[in-house]
Amino acid sequence: MLIALPELDGATCPTVFAGRHGPEGCQGCLHKCQAAAQSRAMAPCHERIDSLAEKTLRAARLRQKRNHDKNVAIVLFGFPPNAGATGTAAYLDVFESLQNTLMQMKADGYDVALPETVAHLRAAVLEGNAKQYGQEANVEAIVSAEEIVRSTPPLKAIEAVWGPAPGRIQSDGRGVFVLGVQLGKVFVGVQPAFGYEGDPMRLLFEKGFAPTHAFATFYLWMRNTFKADVVLHFGMHGALEFMPGKQAGLGAQDWPDRLIGEMPNVYLYASNNPSEASLAKRRSGAVTVTHLTPPLAQSGLYKGLSELKDSLTRWREMDPDDAQAGDLEALINEQAAAVDMAGRKAEELWLNLLETEDALIPEGLHIVGKPFSDAARAGYLGLLDGVDPARRAQVDQMLQEDHELPALMRALSGRFIAPVPGGDLIRSTDILPTGRNIHAFDPFRMPTEFACRDGFKQAQILLETHPELPRSVALVLWGSDNIKSDGAPIAQALALMGAQPRFDSFGRLSGADLIPLSELGRPRIDVIMTLSGIFRDLLPLQTKLLAEAAFKAAQADEPLEMNFIRAHALKYAADMEVDLETAALRVFSNAEGAYGSNVNQLVDSSAFGDEDELADAYEARKSFAYGVNGKAHKNHGLLQKALKDVDLAYQNLESVELGVTTVDHYFDTLGGISRAVKRARGQEVAVYISDQTRGSGKVRTLSDQVALETRSRSLNPKFYEALLSHGSEGVRQIEAHVTNTLGWSATTGQVDPWVYQRISETFVLDEAMRNRLAELNPTASSRMANRLLEASDRAYWQPDAETLAALQSAADALEDHMEGIAAE
Ligand code: BEZ
Ligand code: MG
Repeated sequence: MLIALPELDGATCPTVFAGRHGPEGCQGCLHKCQAAAQSRAMAPCHERIDSLAEKTLRAARLRQKRNHDKNVAIVLFGFPPNAGATGTAAYLDVFESLQNTLMQMKADGYDVALPETVAHLRAAVLEGNAKQYGQEANVEAIVSAEEIVRSTPPLKAIEAVWGPAPGRIQSDGRGVFVLGVQLGKVFVGVQPAFGYEGDPMRLLFEKGFAPTHAFATFYLWMRNTFKADVVLHFGMHGALEFMPGKQAGLGAQDWPDRLIGEMPNVYLYASNNPSEASLAKRRSGAVTVTHLTPPLAQSGLYKGLSELKDSLTRWREMDPDDAQAGDLEALINEQAAAVDMAGRKAEELWLNLLETEDALIPEGLHIVGKPFSDAARAGYLGLLDGVDPARRAQVDQMLQEDHELPALMRALSGRFIAPVPGGDLIRSTDILPTGRNIHAFDPFRMPTEFACRDGFKQAQILLETHPELPRSVALVLWGSDNIKSDGAPIAQALALMGAQPRFDSFGRLSGADLIPLSELGRPRIDVIMTLSGIFRDLLPLQTKLLAEAAFKAAQADEPLEMNFIRAHALKYAADMEVDLETAALRVFSNAEGAYGSNVNQLVDSSAFGDEDELADAYEARKSFAYGVNGKAHKNHGLLQKALKDVDLAYQNLESVELGVTTVDHYFDTLGGISRAVKRARGQEVAVYISDQTRGSGKVRTLSDQVALETRSRSLNPKFYEALLSHGSEGVRQIEAHVTNTLGWSATTGQVDPWVYQRISETFVLDEAMRNRLAELNPTASSRMANRLLEASDRAYWQPDAETLAALQSAADALEDHMEGIAAE
């Protein structure tokens, strides 16, 4: 309450400065708090008060200092490491945006040594002396092991995980490299990676642990050596705010606080991600400044798909007795086979094509400081159904103006950044103008009545799609999806269980009630709800609400054939010799302070052997059961038991910008649980995507969703040419689609083999395209070729001998090209 509500007014940097101290005093200042700890009375926390005073002082100084005198640290990200991804961010052309930002800073009097062009900027950051040190970017400083030992307060905690300083990561054994480049009084740095990528043992850690020496040194160097007056995290998103520690109200022992300290933190953030932005605000004191996501466009059809549509159009207009009908049908069959749609009836083909043609796709990347083109703006306005024309004129105006650079400049001067709800432009024009500080929502009002009604409808569509009534459903819940839809996915979970939220007389969420079976008209479906760590952090009331709904259902005195939750809970209680409350736990997530299942990291770094290892990682990370009191206890046995009964797994898709093959989080969560179910049951499980991005919602099988995205995005020249116009970062995104597709094969086995075949033909076997990609981003193009070979090695597709040989030799050529460049 004390954090979420002030955010609505634009408050920043929530700091706990008093409270009832625990038995061992408060963190960080034991000596001053001993007495308070003994008395258990409300008492100040001196360490936090000092910290808050220092933050305030620094914010005030930032306002007063002349631009010319300010030291500004700008932090870029590189994820995954070694993937041609250094200096990337979701939806953003980072270097173009950064050059525009530096130009504006220069114009505003900052001391910036402005590179001549974007290419020069990129080279200064990513090349420079990088090869000399074997690093991914220019080495700006080396911090020796002695210096690290001398000046790293939490050294012990780091050494416990990573060994003696300087450790092995981003280090030459004597010191740690600080990557980036100083341009006048502006340091453009590259945030080190988390550190555990590709390390299967570390990826199984149930809880978070400690950042690497390199990570901690990077932040300490900015604070103590570079003496940053302000840090600007540039794009979505880095790892700082995901470091271990409390979810809100952090203390001096929590990692994000230890690292950012009292430095003012500005964070350029995509306007459509209120959930992760809230974490950055709460856990690292960030003031976010929103930027637009790329314009959306209709996919349209291309090549074989448009030829097939032409034939189908003729066929639909043709008299069935026409002498040519037979020939045309033969042609249609041939054309359908050529686009991997053999064996479908004409009507089905027609609907498939319309769906592909009509699908919305993001076009390219956003550039800060560059408003939408006229065409993109017009296209966008056309998609805003139901917006009144007066509002539309305002939207048109706002999209023509740049609100982002001016806001960044205000933030760098410590000025107030007005609040704005996070969301998708296509659903809510309230996110305009951008350049504002994202807030999430009023936690007491979710799920809204509208969301509950919609939840019932969507649950019904799901139940109608599956061939038989499921007894148990695994549902993945994310924070962002719920925030953007006022809790629609939460409402779906409630609807499946036959429950609804209860609000008190002030209209505040206070719990869950069951809907009588007579009203529900079908059995209560058991729902295994797996929450992202972000959902758990942002929606504690809703976490309890869901646990309460499941517990109440388990207690309801109803026939077992009408209440699958109770039927299962009674069985688990008897088998496991636990009480009903424990057996009715259905809300699972990470341990507190930990995020993700790490299935994505295992896939990204090819660090798994058998696919069941992905189920192991998933279960290790996600087996913390959250009860009616909101507290978590590890209960691996119960999770495994519940997974055995699951008939289908599903997740909502809320944003057009994010397809299931765009980011690795979908296969990390939905893929992860699907694999765990598959193992528990010893057989395939149905996996669905409930697409909420447009219209009244549509449930697709995972396999159809991947096919749709492959046709409308990955293989669509309109999509990939727009990405490639941004150069290196575009190649990296295409590569990501391939890796994420492999992630779906690894977790569900439900990707059609033609997907790999066509991607290979389009991006690797086509020599001109291959050379083009290799020029733009040698690392990512080599990874793509190797990923396709990996898919073949893992039998996710079986290319013929000729294709395989061609792919192998292309991969070799790409590797030679990459190494040739590295050796130059
Ligand atoms: C979430 O909002 O819960 C979420 C966002 C990104 C990735 C995974 C989860
Ligand atoms: Mg993320």
